[in-house]
Amino acid sequence: MKRVVVFTGAGISAESGIRTFRDSGGLWDEYPIEEVATPQAWSKNPALVLQFYNLRREQVANARPNAAHYALEELRSVFELHIITQNIDDLHERAGSTNVLHLHGEIRKARSTVNPDHVVELSGNLINVGDTCPLGSQLRPHIVWFGESVPAMDQAIDLVSTADLFLVVGTSLAVYPAASLVYHIPENAKAWLIDPNPQLPAGLSGYSILAKTACEGVPELVNHLLTDHVF
Ligand code: OAD
Repeated sequence: MKRVVVFTGAGISAESGIRTFRDSGGLWDEYPIEEVATPQAWSKNPALVLQFYNLRREQVANARPNAAHYALEELRSVFELHIITQNIDDLHERAGSTNVLHLHGEIRKARSTVNPDHVVELSGNLINVGDTCPLGSQLRPHIVWFGESVPAMDQAIDLVSTADLFLVVGTSLAVYPAASLVYHIPENAKAWLIDPNPQLPAGLSGYSILAKTACEGVPELVNHLLTDHVF
């Protein structure tokens, strides 16, 4: 079975009503990164950080997977499918995907501030100041903040460097190390970028570009891969 690796960003969830970060009106316009998404922000004002992610969690809970999330799942009938996402939402999983690697964490989970391996699934939408792990430490969102390392990066590189087909969907490729994945495809792999405003690094070859939204471009490409027997 050929291996398809899909690398997604905020754009795949845009048509589910979840705001992207860097488009005009994106989240980082309203909330400065350094106030809500860094270890320094957490030290300075944990209540503000928790409020920011509580809002994100509520929006994710009210969103539904879209045609792009579902179309990817169809690939599983003929390919070995792996999804690497920068998204903290669970829309890939809710569309039925199982092999999902979250590079930047998961909004539905919290973790201990003293033991990063102690991760818990949240039952509601809120983490409040005073909510503690069984070790007695304040719970924090299970999110990779700016300035923190990306523990799943090595696993992601391994997946991309063994892909037969690589699909990149809805990402500005502005945040490293995640964005560096585009450099790791094998020489003979086929690769596509689907994004209405595609921003591939200059000089990077081997990619076909579909300048479309995820809900247009992903079902179209999936249909092409399935009907043209690329497998
Ligand atoms: P960005 O907000 O940087 O980029 C969103 C991308 O989605 C842009 O390239 C848009 O053109 C594209 N887009 C917008 N609408 C779309 C649609 N309907 N269909 C397809 N694409 C669409 O988001 P990311 O690249 O995901 O990290 O951002 C990467 C990381 O930066 C995030 O994981 C987050 C953020 O800061 C952390 O919080 C650590």
